Amino acid sequence: MTSRSGSRLLTGTGRLLMAQPHAAEAAGPLSPWAALLRDGRVAWVGAPEDAPDADAWEDLGTALVTPGLVDAHTHPVFVGDRSDEAAARLAGEPYAAGGIRRTVAATRAATDDELRAAVEARFRAALAGGTTTVEAKSGYGLSLAEERRALRIAAEAAAAVGIRLVRTFLGAHAVPAEAASADAYVDAIVHDMLPAVAGEAEFCDVFCDSGFFTVAQADAILTAGRTHGMGIKVHAEQLARTGATELGIRLGATSVDHLEQLDAAGIQALAASTTVATVLPGPAVLMRDRLPPARALLDAGATVAIATDANAGTYANPSMPLAIGLGAAVLNLSPTEAVAAATAGGAAAIGRAHEIGLIREGMTADLVAWDAEHEGAFALRLGAVRPIRIWINGEVHWG
Ligand code: NIG
Ligand code: FE
Repeated sequence: MTSRSGSRLLTGTGRLLMAQPHAAEAAGPLSPWAALLRDGRVAWVGAPEDAPDADAWEDLGTALVTPGLVDAHTHPVFVGDRSDEAAARLAGEPYAAGGIRRTVAATRAATDDELRAAVEARFRAALAGGTTTVEAKSGYGLSLAEERRALRIAAEAAAAVGIRLVRTFLGAHAVPAEAASADAYVDAIVHDMLPAVAGEAEFCDVFCDSGFFTVAQADAILTAGRTHGMGIKVHAEQLARTGATELGIRLGATSVDHLEQLDAAGIQALAASTTVATVLPGPAVLMRDRLPPARALLDAGATVAIATDANAGTYANPSMPLAIGLGAAVLNLSPTEAVAAATAGGAAAIGRAHEIGLIREGMTADLVAWDAEHEGAFALRLGAVRPIRIWINGEVHWG
C-alpha cells in the first residue's frame, strides 16, 4: 500500500487511456507511459524519460490502464429475488409496475443489517469489475422513512467497501400500493419527501414513462427537486417516447437515462444541450428492447455515458466491463469510445467531469490496471476482463 503523503510513480509499456467523452476529442493512448500520483491526485502524466522523482515506483508492464470506471446509474438498495419474473418476461410477459412493488415489499421487510449486507455485496462486485465511483438510487422504499433508510444504507455500504458514491433520490420509481392515487403520491414526494432528502441525495430522478409517472408529474417533482438544490436525472424513453428527454433538457438535467425509444428529434435536442445521454445496454438487451441510439448520439455531438442500471428486476449485473463490451458489441461504439463513455462520460453524467473520469494532471487518482493489453479485450472477452490493480484517491484498493 502507498503511504498517503508519499508520491508514487507508475510506469508501463502498455496503453494508458486518457479517455474523452467525444470520439472527435479522443486523446490517443500514451505508450510507453508514466504517471505520478500524489496526495490523492494525478500530479503528472507523460513519457517515462521525463518522469519526475517519486517516493515509490511501480511498473505495470504491458497492462492496459484506464481511469476508474464510473457506473452512473444503479439501483442497488434492495433485497429479494425476481429471477422468476425475468424468466416470465423472456417467455413473453410484459414489464409492469408490480415487479417494483414486489421488491419494495421485500426491502421494507429487511432489517438494516440484511439490507446493508446486500448493498455491500453489490458494491464489492462493482469494485471487482473496476468501478471506482458508483451512482446509487433509492426507489425501493417509496415512503419517506424507507427512502431515507435506503440513502443512509447506501452511504454506509460504500464507506465499508471504499467505493466513491453519489446518491440519487428516486422516490418516483413507482406508486406504492398504499397511496390513494398517483397524484397524491406525487404530492407527498414534493411536499414531504424532497425537503427531507435534499440534504442527503445529490440528485432527484423520476421514472417518467408509460405506466409509471407522466411528464407533468415528473415536471412537478423535478422542478421541486431543483428548488431544493438537487441535480436532475430522468429515466426517459425506455418503454415509450414520452418527451421525458425534452423535459430533462428544459430543466437542465445532468443526465437523461435509458433512451431506447429516442427518435431523431430527441437525438438532436440532446446534442444541442449539456445534458448527458446515459445508455444502459444491459437491460435493453435483456428486455429484448430497441437499442438506445448511442452511435447516433455520439455522431451528433452529445455526451454519452454507459452504465449498468443494475437493479432488482430488469437487469442485475453490476459489471461495467460487460456494459463496455456490450456498448461496443451491440451499440456500435468502438471499444475506445465505450471506455470513454464508462469513464469521462459517466463522470459527466454525475456532474463530476472536473474531478474524475480522466487520467490528467489535477484529476483525482482513480485508475485501473487490467488483465488486458488493449481496450478491444472488453469486446473480445465480453464480460471477462478483470482489474489487476485499482487505485482510488491514489491508494491501492485491489491487487
Ligand atoms: O431502470 N426503469 C426503471 N427502473 C429500473 C427497473 C426497476 C425494477 O424493475 O425493479 C430500470 O430498469
Ligand atoms: Fe434505472
